[in-house]
Amino acid sequence: MNEALWLLSPKGEFALRATPRPTAGPGEVVVRVRAIAVNPMDAITGPLRRIVTPWVRYPTVIGSDVAGEVVEVGEGVTRLSLGDRVLGYAAGQERLRNTPTEGAFQQYVTVLGRVCTPIPDQVTFERAAVLPLGLATASAGLFEPDQLALPLPTVAPLSRCDVVLVWGASTSVGSNAVQLARASGFTVLATAGRKNHEFVRSLGAEAVFDYRDADVVQGIIGALGDRQLAGTIAIGQGSLTHALRIARRSSGTKRIASAYPDPITKTRALIARTRGIHVSSIWGGTPTHSPIGPAIFQDFLPTALEDGRFRPMPEPVVTGSGLQDLPDALDALRAGVSAAKIVVAIN
Ligand SMILES: NC(=O)c1ccc[n+]([C@@H]2O[C@H](COP(=O)([O-])OP(=O)(O)OC[C@H]3O[C@@H](n4cnc5c(N)ncnc54)[C@H](OP(=O)(O)O)[C@@H]3O)[C@@H](O)[C@H]2O)c1
Repeated sequence: MNEALWLLSPKGEFALRATPRPTAGPGEVVVRVRAIAVNPMDAITGPLRRIVTPWVRYPTVIGSDVAGEVVEVGEGVTRLSLGDRVLGYAAGQERLRNTPTEGAFQQYVTVLGRVCTPIPDQVTFERAAVLPLGLATASAGLFEPDQLALPLPTVAPLSRCDVVLVWGASTSVGSNAVQLARASGFTVLATAGRKNHEFVRSLGAEAVFDYRDADVVQGIIGALGDRQLAGTIAIGQGSLTHALRIARRSSGTKRIASAYPDPITKTRALIARTRGIHVSSIWGGTPTHSPIGPAIFQDFLPTALEDGRFRPMPEPVVTGSGLQDLPDALDALRAGVSAAKIVVAIN
């Protein structure tokens, strides 16, 4: 049997219910979930939830980030075996999947093999669970052809002269973006709150600026010097405004991928285009169905995790031990986190 935490309506009430155990179709695996991380998307309630995912019917099972053991392997999945410890992107809220059997908030979940990665013995389930959506969103922004379209990461990257700017690098998406951009060979400039500068440098950023400083834009332009900007990942409120200023005053590709789409992003993108700046909105679920998903989750991540070159960050903060603790985990996320990911262990 399977137990799931059902989201009854967009208003945000949950109920624990016995639910049939999902099965694995072609290209899928079933994972016995051992840890779930929560994301801002899971914490949305009210009309905004219908605006962000209008295709979802309620009740449903939400959640994207899982780690656990493979208990069923579908036809065509050759890289994963029964008993493998994995992390996976649960894609149930994606328009093309749109099914509760693929929502993370349950004991057994169906995950697409293309966005599922074996985890090394030394990485706990709680730590591994911090990765899937943050990694997928950063990958979408950096590598999808309609976003920054940068070269993919490799285990032995060529060193490039160009710079990637990650605005909001202490976020979950940003921690992944810094590491991925470095693994593609770029130098990284970043912003974060002052207390997280050392953390962001430890991920590989050359220099970190406080996004709250009045002269942050000037500081970044100074640090760029003669180097070209390969692109900017803009995360966090106000990030697009600053990223546009920097793009206007620097040389390079003038592409900005925004993970903080607000209602006026499209209008600003149209205006920016007249100035030769390409602004795009990231959709973190894109790699679940694009070639970028397997390029990252299958080709890059397993080795990079194994040899420690890619670190599952930000730091997990475990706030519970069962599905019943997820609503409190969402409240903890709403209260705000800093360079941390709220995780619930599933015993
Ligand atoms: N488009 C998509 O598909 C997609 C997918 C995932 C997430 N997102 C969005 O991306 C954003 C980040 O999500 P997340 O889960 O990575 O966040 P998170 O880890 O929960 O974010 C917490 C961090 O936000 C930083 N922060 C707060 N205000 C900021 C600002 N104005 N500028 C830069 N950084 C700021 C804080 O930095 P300090 O503590 O260092 O000050 C803190 O470390 C959210 O807006 C989320 O909704 C979008």
